[in-house]
Amino acid sequence: MMKSLFATKPLNKLLEESQDSGTGLKRTLTRLNLTTLGVGAIIGAGIFVLTGQAAATYAGPAIVLSFVVAGFACALAGLCYAEFASMIPIAGSAYTYGYATLGEFIAWIIGWDLILEYLFAASTVAVGWSGYVVSFLKDFGIFLPTKFTAATGTVLYDIPNMGWKPLSSLSKESLATLNIDSLQHVTAIMNLPAMFVVMLLVTLLVIGISESANFNNLMVIIKVSVIIVFIGIGFAFIKTGNWHPFIPKNTGEWGHFGISGIFRGAAVIFFAYIGFDAVSTAAQESKNPQRDMPWGILGSLSISTVLYILMAIVLTGIVSYTQLNVADPVAVGVDAMGSSMFWLRPIIKIAAIAGLSSVILVMLLGQPRIFYSMSKDGLLPPAFSRVHKRFKTPHVSTIVTGIAAMIFAGILPIGILGELVSIGTLLAFVIVCVGIIFLRVRKPELHRPFRTPWVPYIPALGAIICLIQMFSLPLDTWLRLIVWMAIGLVIYFTYGISHSVLRKSKLK
Ligand code: ALA
Repeated sequence: MMKSLFATKPLNKLLEESQDSGTGLKRTLTRLNLTTLGVGAIIGAGIFVLTGQAAATYAGPAIVLSFVVAGFACALAGLCYAEFASMIPIAGSAYTYGYATLGEFIAWIIGWDLILEYLFAASTVAVGWSGYVVSFLKDFGIFLPTKFTAATGTVLYDIPNMGWKPLSSLSKESLATLNIDSLQHVTAIMNLPAMFVVMLLVTLLVIGISESANFNNLMVIIKVSVIIVFIGIGFAFIKTGNWHPFIPKNTGEWGHFGISGIFRGAAVIFFAYIGFDAVSTAAQESKNPQRDMPWGILGSLSISTVLYILMAIVLTGIVSYTQLNVADPVAVGVDAMGSSMFWLRPIIKIAAIAGLSSVILVMLLGQPRIFYSMSKDGLLPPAFSRVHKRFKTPHVSTIVTGIAAMIFAGILPIGILGELVSIGTLLAFVIVCVGIIFLRVRKPELHRPFRTPWVPYIPALGAIICLIQMFSLPLDTWLRLIVWMAIGLVIYFTYGISHSVLRKSKLK
């Protein structure tokens, strides 16, 4: 029993599957598509929402260094993903890599864990999308009913000059100036715009991979062009005084400015880098995955890292970091440029909405493809690997993913969702890094179109940094992770173990 729990899926079988043209999925994606898919998944709520809060409360202008630290950690994991993706170009991503190296049980754990990354990230970013859309419409005098714009049960107060907000989003100073009892308040029923965007994108994903890739390309062009315009114009408005002190003095509490603040900031904005690994889930729809996967993964990660660092330099240069603790820090940056730049404000919001849309899209694209692989292996019911005859997409798993993502987006607050995404992703990165070392030792002879340099140092360092980041997350998040994994184990031992294709073939 124990032995078969850790049975690995033979590499030659995996390679056969990757070349099998009878899977029903359509091979249309080029190297450029894969790179834009990566950029589509990466640049989103992290830069447009979280940066300001991380700079204002943890790192100050040194948030630039937090971006360097988090980018470095992701580059280490990215190199490992690139090796696996070129060697095993199958839609299951880390789940499949786990199956090939560490055995079925660990593979199931990663597969179940990846739901936290993809499905929950789609919901998290949908909540961010809703915030930007509500504020964009408000600028044009369109007001959506407040009780349908936040997580179920959230109490929102009408704060003077700020609009409807939960008290938890206000600083101690702002709270001290308010007479709470005199404020109007409502209790939210659900977040309808967040649910709506998930439904829209799921429909597109069912219709086709090319259609989805084209939509993603358009969103990426919009968000990247606007970011470049912001950086270009922003340089002229930098007041170097805003960078002094570059690393504000620590307040006496770990993680609040000083060197520890840089690391705490890095753990928060790690979220901004999540998504490069989503490229690997499109392996079976890529024209030449062995050659193009490493480009897609590492190319998109590099482009996003450069843009993030430049954006952080400009943003903290044009406005004091103390003013950035808001949900739309980039818009605050535009305001600080003065009235001549007012035209840029709605454009920034459009870029954010486009950016968040593409993140949701690629996350909702990644999840069903992992379910698809798990179902092909017998660990999930066969319906999850059904491919639509005309659209050639895994429609059942896409719709199931969409419904679950819609429910979470409608009822859960962004904070809980975001931390679950980070812990889930970090765990997957740790396992992928360890898997690279394992496979190099066990099967050194395998053909690796892309090789991670300096093994075992790079993967070992990658795993260690990701573990440190996991331990910097709150205890509550750990407890949620444990409960989530326990649910996964129940499903594995009641369904997967008795339906596993690998086990059945071994029993014959
Ligand atoms: N990296 C993605 C974002 O920032 C998840 O929205």
